[in-house]
Amino acid sequence: MKTHNIAIIKGDGIGHPVVDAAWEVLQAVATQSGFALTGTELPWSCAHYKETGVMMPTDGIDSLRKYDAILLGAVGWPAEVPDAVSLHGLLLPIRKAFDQYANVRPHRLLPGVEGPLRRGGFDILCIRENTEGEYAGAGGRIHQGTPQEVAVETGIFTRMGVERILRFAFAQARARRGKLASVTKSNAQKYSMVFWDEITRQLAAEHPDVEVTSYHVDAMAARMVTAPESLDVVVASNLFGDILTDLGAAIQGGLGFAASANLNPDRKAPSMFEPVHGSAPDIAHLGIANPIAAIWSGAMMLEHLGEKAAADRVMAALGDTTGRGIGTVPGKDSTDAITAAVLSALS
Ligand code: NAD
Ligand code: IPM
Ligand code: MN
Repeated sequence: MKTHNIAIIKGDGIGHPVVDAAWEVLQAVATQSGFALTGTELPWSCAHYKETGVMMPTDGIDSLRKYDAILLGAVGWPAEVPDAVSLHGLLLPIRKAFDQYANVRPHRLLPGVEGPLRRGGFDILCIRENTEGEYAGAGGRIHQGTPQEVAVETGIFTRMGVERILRFAFAQARARRGKLASVTKSNAQKYSMVFWDEITRQLAAEHPDVEVTSYHVDAMAARMVTAPESLDVVVASNLFGDILTDLGAAIQGGLGFAASANLNPDRKAPSMFEPVHGSAPDIAHLGIANPIAAIWSGAMMLEHLGEKAAADRVMAALGDTTGRGIGTVPGKDSTDAITAAVLSALS
């Protein structure tokens, strides 16, 4: 039997219940579909940091390399560990070390989910650059604690990095409805975003079948609220994509619905699948975290592993669940009740 070996990092807060839910659903669909998923749980988290002084062991990246994929919950417990320590100690190094440069985030309403907008007929695929840009981690502070203190954080935009994320987005647009929105801010950022626009135009010339429009990020934020149905594939830098995908989550009913894949499209290292949301400390012990985003991320993982039919079954079960009104409104149904409904829809 075909077996896929998965590294499981639940992380912090609601990362635990939502990954447990996703794993249960993934096991059920694997059994139905005739393949196996083995999971190795790694305890890396803020709790691990409190115990050991590190978010993951020094050979953590090397030990992840052998897995077929990584399923992650959420990282961060700011009351105990500063976010800049926890995220730069676990999540961000994995994305960079494994060159998971394409962060793919679908935004559409599942059946029965109303969302806050009057208009519901949108289906957006956000492609976020995931290894450089504004989150490259290049910078420093000098004269700390003095009145002349300086903090510098430099955005890093390389031709290789910009070109490959745009190429990936063009390919996605070709495979969907043929429209690409490239997110810029070249009216204010006259180096990095002018560069981004130039490469967008170069690649547009190579893809005459794709209709490309550049939008400034501020206008894009408004468009996602007022005319989301006008968008197909949206490609953005790391920071812009981060912000726009929480907006995308909001219009699809909330962070509990927003899934993501951190892809190494060249398949030279494992890809990682995780919900867009964080550890949600405000609801972490209430048993009401929506597991749908994590389950949907699991479906994206199955598709990446070549199990498209199983991924489709999971998406159908999610649609069946929300179509029956379960899990559609944040806080109404428990994590367990939503998971049970998805499992029953599968069987
Ligand atoms: P968050 O996404 O954890 O929560 C934002 C709001 O959305 C909260 O009110 C929360 O209750 C709600 N929410 C999120 N997911 C939900 C779900 N599945 N079901 C129901 N409600 C949900 O963002 P935050 O509060 O800014 O961050 C909390 C911690 O998580 C911080 O440490 C942050 O750095 C970290 N974080 C991690 C990731 C990640 O690991 N990928 C992503 C975002 C934030
Ligand atoms: C996300 C998160 C992370 C990011 C944080 C926690 C570093 O917000 O996955 O969207 O910005 O990449
Ligand atoms: Mn984010």
